[in-house]
Amino acid sequence: MNSPKIARRADISPFIVMDVMARANEKEASGENIIHMEVGQPATRAPQKVIDAAHRALDEDRLGYTEATGLPVLRARISAHYQQRYGLDVPDRRIIVTTGSSAGFVLAFLALFDKGDKVALPVPGYPCYPHILRALDIHPLMVRTDNRTRWCLDVDHLDGLERQGHEISGVLVASPNNPTGVIMEDHRLQALAGFCDHSGIPLICDEIYHGLSYQRHPESALAFGKNVIVINSFSKYFSMTGWRIGWMVVPEKLVRPVERLQQNLYINAPTLSQLAAVSAFDCMDELEGYRRAYEQNRNFLLRELPEIGFDKILPADGAFYLYADVSRFTDDSRKFTRQLLEETGVALTPGNDFDAEYGHHFLRFSYARSHADMQEAVKRLKAWMRRQ
Ligand SMILES: Cc1ncc(COP(=O)(O)O)c(C=O)c1O
Repeated sequence: MNSPKIARRADISPFIVMDVMARANEKEASGENIIHMEVGQPATRAPQKVIDAAHRALDEDRLGYTEATGLPVLRARISAHYQQRYGLDVPDRRIIVTTGSSAGFVLAFLALFDKGDKVALPVPGYPCYPHILRALDIHPLMVRTDNRTRWCLDVDHLDGLERQGHEISGVLVASPNNPTGVIMEDHRLQALAGFCDHSGIPLICDEIYHGLSYQRHPESALAFGKNVIVINSFSKYFSMTGWRIGWMVVPEKLVRPVERLQQNLYINAPTLSQLAAVSAFDCMDELEGYRRAYEQNRNFLLRELPEIGFDKILPADGAFYLYADVSRFTDDSRKFTRQLLEETGVALTPGNDFDAEYGHHFLRFSYARSHADMQEAVKRLKAWMRRQ
């Protein structure tokens, strides 16, 4: 019997952290005690008012389709959030509710780029950006960053790409970034936005880790340019990963194209989650408590990890990650994390997920779990390192 071919588009790289998580879950199911520092997922529940709103929506059975762009009440609440948090006037019209930020990327890439277009993005960075771009026949221009630009994509990098003859169709950054946690300085973000406005190309900024910052709070890229598309989500700061709900802010001109794409691809983001998410903005005290708990974990790890020998950590401004250079211990971080998981039950993500070239020298620690988990992980890591 002949079987159908698998499309070349499906020849997509894995999101390694999901593979690590699957193995960690398997071990957990067999009774082992696993500390999950691999996945970027809060251990906390969704805020109480969100859960209450979801119960009400289920009881009242209000779960039909919504407008493709999202419930008007939710778009208005997100607009108010921009006013309250950033002092920015973002009309509801420009806000589109999505099935997590992940769907926001697909909608943005489809709306903005054609086959063969080139999009510049920094390395190390979130792996799904280049994977999704490639699946859509869009070419990621992977730009290596280092401490000279504080691990951020910079206008000089873009000038360099142009000098090499690349025609750039768009720029994609995240601030705070994953896996590094680095927040882009305002002047750098402003310069990128200026470059994009001048060249008539979009700057896509992933602001999913906004709210999770520990020293200074980043501005939204929306403050800096006209061609800015912001992608955001309820997954991280709002502790709602599995609810699969996020949003994008797009320039006026893009509203209708994105709406048409959403109508056809997803119809609308999950209605239950939309109804519940309206209440998320009334839970700031609870969410601030979550942020303070991350901060405590961060400070603890920044103190303890260097004692174990993980002392080369990138600037950890925000998100809930530490990205450490572990080249003095291994040349193969994938093997290292596998061994650690098998022998200590501590799950970490190898840098290969975020950087194909040098990731084998790095580990990412996610500190989104409880403080007790962080203490136990450090204890196990210390004992394991002593045995090596
Ligand atoms: C930088 C970044 N963007 C987007 C996502 C996807 O999030 P969502 O749950 O909103 O689809 C993640 C998830 O880890 C992420 O780290």
